[in-house]
Amino acid sequence: MDRSAVAIALAGVTMLLAPLAACAHTSAAVQSEVTICITCHGVRGRGTPAGVPRLAGQNADYMAHALSMFKAGTRKSPIMQPIAAGLSDAQMRALAGYFARQKVSIPGTGAALSPLLQSAGKQLAEAGATNLAACFSCHAAHGAGSGARYPRIAGEPRQFVIDRIHEFQARARNAVPQPGTMTAIAATMDESQIQAAAAYLSQLGGA
Ligand code: HEC
Ligand code: HEC
Repeated sequence: MDRSAVAIALAGVTMLLAPLAACAHTSAAVQSEVTICITCHGVRGRGTPAGVPRLAGQNADYMAHALSMFKAGTRKSPIMQPIAAGLSDAQMRALAGYFARQKVSIPGTGAALSPLLQSAGKQLAEAGATNLAACFSCHAAHGAGSGARYPRIAGEPRQFVIDRIHEFQARARNAVPQPGTMTAIAATMDESQIQAAAAYLSQLGGA
């Protein structure tokens, strides 16, 4: 996302106040922060085709940890670092808990995805390839995620998966990755495998 997209997203805050009022169990403590988050992450954190990640249904501990890494600068994001910098540990945990509880359908993919690409992605996710362990061997069946270490990847926007794997690959070029990490996995992936996995995951799962 570029800066103008961010400005447009933030300007959308007032427009989104109405649907938020309908979410009865948003704890009052984080309601105003949630309003800001969903200007980018979509209604109830469902994610957007532009590549802003899905938060709905993601593991709460994983999200709280991601926020603390943005705050500490150990995970880079020109967008999320300044946002996380303004959050206390208690707010991070409350926001992560709120989004983890949300059940909402995945956003449209924005474009029709080739069935061939999707079946190649399904194959990688379930069975892997000679250079690659099956995604679901770590991220659990259907990409539902497993504990705080292995995030949910089902229903993540295609563009987010592509960007994130490229980011892991860039990290692998700077230092030899630890075996068993996503950085090590990403380093073995070629571009067609990234495209296929991203296409498949983006239409998987939902509420
Ligand atoms: C201006 C747009 C914007 C706003 C506002 C915003 N985010 Fe984000 N968020 C992003 C983008 C873009 C990413 C992907 C960043 C990356 O990985 O480089 C992201 C990533 C994240 C991640 C990591 C997700 C993952 O699975 O790796 C979490 C957690 C998160 N945001 C939570 C929040 C919370 C909570 C709020 C509200 C306090 C919020 N965000 C507000 C744009 C935004
Ligand atoms: C050996 C275990 C392992 C395998 C196999 C694996 N992953 Fe991961 N993956 C991880 C771990 C651990 C993380 C969390 C990394 C972090 O947050 O720094 C992760 C994170 C991710 C993320 C970022 C999610 C987010 O919300 O930020 C994506 C996307 C991803 N994996 C996709 C894949 C795909 C696609 C495959 C199959 C081609 C795959 N993974 C195979 C261990 C694995």
